[in-house]
Amino acid sequence: MDIVRTVADLRARVRDWRDAGLRVAVVPTMGGLHDGHLSLVRHGLTFADRVVATLFVNPKQFGAGEDLDKYPRDETRDAEMLAGAGCHLLFAPPVTEMYPDGFSTRVTVDGLTDVLCGAARPGHFDGVAQVVTKLLNQAQADIAVFGEKDWQQLQVVTRLARDLDIPTRIEPAPTIREADGLAMSSRNRYLSASERTTAAHLPRVLTTAIASMMNGTAPPIACQNAREDLSSAGFGTIDYLEVRTARTLSPVETLDPATPSRIFVAAHIGPTRLIDNREIA
Ligand code: PAJ
Repeated sequence: MDIVRTVADLRARVRDWRDAGLRVAVVPTMGGLHDGHLSLVRHGLTFADRVVATLFVNPKQFGAGEDLDKYPRDETRDAEMLAGAGCHLLFAPPVTEMYPDGFSTRVTVDGLTDVLCGAARPGHFDGVAQVVTKLLNQAQADIAVFGEKDWQQLQVVTRLARDLDIPTRIEPAPTIREADGLAMSSRNRYLSASERTTAAHLPRVLTTAIASMMNGTAPPIACQNAREDLSSAGFGTIDYLEVRTARTLSPVETLDPATPSRIFVAAHIGPTRLIDNREIA
C-alpha cells in the first residue's frame, strides 16, 4: 500500500485506476484505527476494485477543550492495519495541504446539525462538512464509505453530497462492536479498566430501552429510564439520550411503524465522551 500526501498525487492515482475501468472507494478516517474502521475498507472492497483510506485528524471539527491534542496518532500502525485489510492507497496529508494559508470557505448543513452532537458540540459538524466535502472532491471516488456508528454524521454527509451534486455515492456500513456490545471507537482507549466496565452498560441500556419501547413504553419514558440507568451505572454528564427519526432526526414522542426511528446517546465517563445509536425494531 502506497502513501501519498498531496491532492495532486491522490488525484493522479485515482485517475489512473478510473481510466483503467476500475471502481474506486474512499474511506475517510482520523486514524487511531480499530476493527470498525477496517470493516469500512472491507465494505468498500465489496463495491469497488480499489480502496483509498484517508488519514487526517481534522483540527476544525474539534472544539476548544476537546481531545485534539491527545487524539491517537500512529501513522505506521494505522498504515499496517489498512494494508492488512486490503486497502490499496493511503492519503495522509499534512494540515498545510488541507488548509493552506488563506483558506476561507465554510460548509454548513442546516437543520440536521442543530440537534444531538450538533447541539452538544457547536461547530463540530461545520468542521466535518468542510473536510468531507474536500476529501470527496479530492478523491473523486465512485463510492465513499461511512459508519452507522456516527449516524448523524452519515446523514449530514449524505445530505451535503446530494445538495452539492458531489458524484460520489455515500455508502453506509454497520457498527462494529466489542464482544460485550460496546461500539468500537478510537476514544475507548482512553478508558481505565473500571471505566471500561462502566462503558459496557451503554449498549445494554439501549437494548433495554428498545425492548421496553417495543412493549409499548412511550419513547420519552423509556429514555428517562435509560438516563437513570446510565447515571446509576456510573456515567457522568449525559449530553443526550433521545429517540429521533432516522433520516430527518426529528424528535419522536410516539413510535410510528411507517417511519424508521433510532435511539441516540452521548454520555461521558470521566473525561471520555462515548456515543452510540441503534435502530428501534
Ligand atoms: P473517525 O472517527 O476516525 O471515523 C472514521 C469512520 O469510521 C467514520 O465513518 C465512522 O463512522 C467509522 N467508524 C468508527 N467507529 C466505527 C465502528 N465501531 N463501526 C463502524 N464504523 C465505525 O468520523 C470521522 O473519523 C471523521 O469525522 C471524518 C469523517 C474522517 C472527517 O474528519
